Amino acid sequence: MRTFYDAGIVGGGVIGLMSAYFLSKAGIKVAVFEKGKIGCGASSAAAGMLGAHTETERADAFFRFAEESASLYPGLSAGLLEETGIDIQLVYNGMLKLAMTAEEAASLRDRAGKEPDVEWLSRDSVLKKESNLTEDLQGGLFIAKDGQVSPSALCRALARAVQINGGTILEGAAAGRIQRAEPSHYEVSAAGETHYCEALVITGGTWSGQLFGEVGISAPVHPVKGECLSIMPDGFRLASTVFHESCYLVPKSDGSIIIGATMEEGNWRAEPTIQGMSSLMEKAVSIMPCIKKGVFQKAWAGLRPAASDAKPYIFKHEGMKNLYAATGHYRNGILLAPKTGEMVRDLFLNRPVKEEYEREFGLNRRTEVKS
Ligand code: FAD
Ligand code: GLY
Repeated sequence: MRTFYDAGIVGGGVIGLMSAYFLSKAGIKVAVFEKGKIGCGASSAAAGMLGAHTETERADAFFRFAEESASLYPGLSAGLLEETGIDIQLVYNGMLKLAMTAEEAASLRDRAGKEPDVEWLSRDSVLKKESNLTEDLQGGLFIAKDGQVSPSALCRALARAVQINGGTILEGAAAGRIQRAEPSHYEVSAAGETHYCEALVITGGTWSGQLFGEVGISAPVHPVKGECLSIMPDGFRLASTVFHESCYLVPKSDGSIIIGATMEEGNWRAEPTIQGMSSLMEKAVSIMPCIKKGVFQKAWAGLRPAASDAKPYIFKHEGMKNLYAATGHYRNGILLAPKTGEMVRDLFLNRPVKEEYEREFGLNRRTEVKS
């Protein structure tokens, strides 16, 4: 049997699903090829934070893209609920970025003076907000407008919406050989069949480097392994997400807290380790001592897809017809997904896209290795 699609999307994480969602809503006939289950890669490991301010320090194109993406969430959440009945659990409980040293306090206070939407809180005000935090802190930045979602509910809702809009979701369908059949389509071998796709969108997360290789592009993407655990706190509820350096405590709707996350370059094994857990627990207890009485629930790990400059690739290839990519979203794929899906759709339909985004996330940008 021959199956034809307008667009084959290789990789069913949040980025592939969001791209499929925007394309299918625009009337494009899509198929998502996912080698495992949808959302089984980095997307299922994410804490779900929409932390434009906590994850970036500079008001650059990346930050503007992140802010625009975050602003799409309320409409997206309402639309997905109406279409699919699935609640992606969007909440705005704010984020507290802590300063533990005088130097950190000076830097965060400086940001509060320059950026809208962020407020410097004194030590006493922070402790009034979260009385279980360590008293060894100097203050913190509070970002009321930063929220969070459930990544697994988001992936489920997107996949369902794609199907409702006429798209196909293929699980257990590893795209093996991908061939350009001139002049008009790509042939994707997956799940024992050849699928004919007029256009191809590479959204394979950490595995995108191999997929780029299949179509003759060199754009390395490497894993940055992250480990997390969740606990049920003993007798209290955390109100806001708390962030210090790369450790965060994220309160979930059932009262549990996600503690994340380690950072390990180049490790392809998406499994939690004793070393990872002990470093996270130690850090979390130093931020909130009473957390040690919490009941351990589970531990997991995922592979953040990263380009060498830690910025995503979102482009339409200039030389290869109908070839698109959206990958390398590193620490912020959940946050950046809506704007990424929108940009993929706009590139696909030749609609205008902000020049700074095309330049910043293009294949031929000047990449600097992030130190
Ligand atoms: P993935 O989710 O990895 O999806 C890629 C998919 O492609 C996979 O499902 C894979 O199976 C599939 N695939 C690969 N090759 C093939 C093939 N040949 N054929 C078919 N399918 C294929 N981001 C945030 O914004 N907020 C957070 O709070 C947050 N927390 C995080 C916490 C941790 C511990 C980690 C690890 C990441 C976190 N992130 C967070 C980052 C976020 O998870 C990623 O940026 C995002 O999930 C990347 O999505 P993706 O779709 O590109 O990749
Ligand atoms: N954005 C959180 C993480 O990647 O761990």
